[in-house]
Parts: sequence; C-alpha cells; structure tokens
Amino acid sequence: MSVLDANIESVIITADQIREKIAELAARIDADYADREVLLVGVLKGAAMFMSDLARALQRPSTMEFMAVSSYGSSHRTSGVVRILKDLDRDISGEHVLVVEDIIDSGLTLSWLLKNLQSRGPASMEIITLLRKAGAAKVRVDVRYVGFEIPNAFVVGYGLDYAEQYRGLPYIGILKSSVYGG
Ligand code: PRP
Repeated sequence: MSVLDANIESVIITADQIREKIAELAARIDADYADREVLLVGVLKGAAMFMSDLARALQRPSTMEFMAVSSYGSSHRTSGVVRILKDLDRDISGEHVLVVEDIIDSGLTLSWLLKNLQSRGPASMEIITLLRKAGAAKVRVDVRYVGFEIPNAFVVGYGLDYAEQYRGLPYIGILKSSVYGG
C-alpha cells in the first residue's frame, strides 16, 4: 500500500470496473460513429487517464485534441466563468466532436466549454464523462455517455486530484476527510 492509498477512506470504483466500463462505452461510441470519424477533445488535466484508455479501447479511427481550462477561483462557482489555459491546436469546424471529461460536478465548466466549442462550428458535439456527481448540478448539461453516477463526496484517483496528487491511482476512491481538513 502506498502513502497515497493509505489516505483513501474507501474505493468506490475499482480499476477492473473502470476497464469494463470503458470497453462498454467504447463499443457504444464505435456503433454510434460507424459512419463518421470522431474527434476526441480531452479536458486537461483530469481527463488525461480516461482519454488515453478510451482512445485505446475504440476500434474505429479517431483523432485527439486537448484543452485546458481553469475556473476563476470561487467566482466560478457562481458565475461559471472559465479561463482557457490551453486551446485546441486546430480548427474543429465540420468535425464530429466528443468532449471527454473525467467528472461533472456543478456542470459549470462543461456548460461554458460547450458554448465556446459550439461557436467554432463543429458538425456535431456530444459529451462523455466517466463520472457524474448525483444531485450536484447547478446547470443542466446534456451528456450522451456517462460512466458512473457517484455520491457527492470528495473523490480522487484515475485523473482526479487533491492538491495535484492522487491522479495516478488506478481506481476512484473517497479521500479521508483528515487529509483536507474537512
Ligand atoms: C474538474 C473536472 C471538470 C470540472 C468539473 O477540473 O475535470 O473539468 O472540475 O467541475 P464542475 O462540473 O463543477 O464545473 P479541475 O478544475 O479540478 O481541473 P483538473 O482537471 O486540472 O484537475
């Protein structure tokens, strides 16, 4: 057990469950995009693990782009204003975009991002998220593919961090409240 594992209260989604879910989601995407090539747009940094495993699970051709966004501190929680830290490297007009997120909490980040990407004229745009927090949404976002609905707890692992740590854990776990003083 690593020092990071020792700070986990409980594992809510195992590495095997993640692997199985990704295979299932990839099969749906392959079927849904049988006649189109999908452009995966990963939202850094949290989606890095999910994006790379999802891309490897897809059987059909796909391409990848990344974006990094950041909320403006606490005002984000009310206004939903987002700052672009790293933009896409290319034009997405006419592309079939699938936005890849690790988690949807309030939905504010994604809601802003969707408007931003929509203005660039993609042929279609859908969302896939590995996790969605139950009952936490402040804004409604239509999500085509959801891996797991999870309780409103402080989760880390498989891309999700606390103070930039824990992203490398192969599972999703609830962080002990003693770690963040909650
Ligand atoms: C997380 C996550 C989503 C967002 C979800 O990113 O990856 O982008 O928060 O929260 P919301 O639905 O309440 O807007 P974070 O800002 O923690 O950045 P990171 O991915 O680099 O860790």
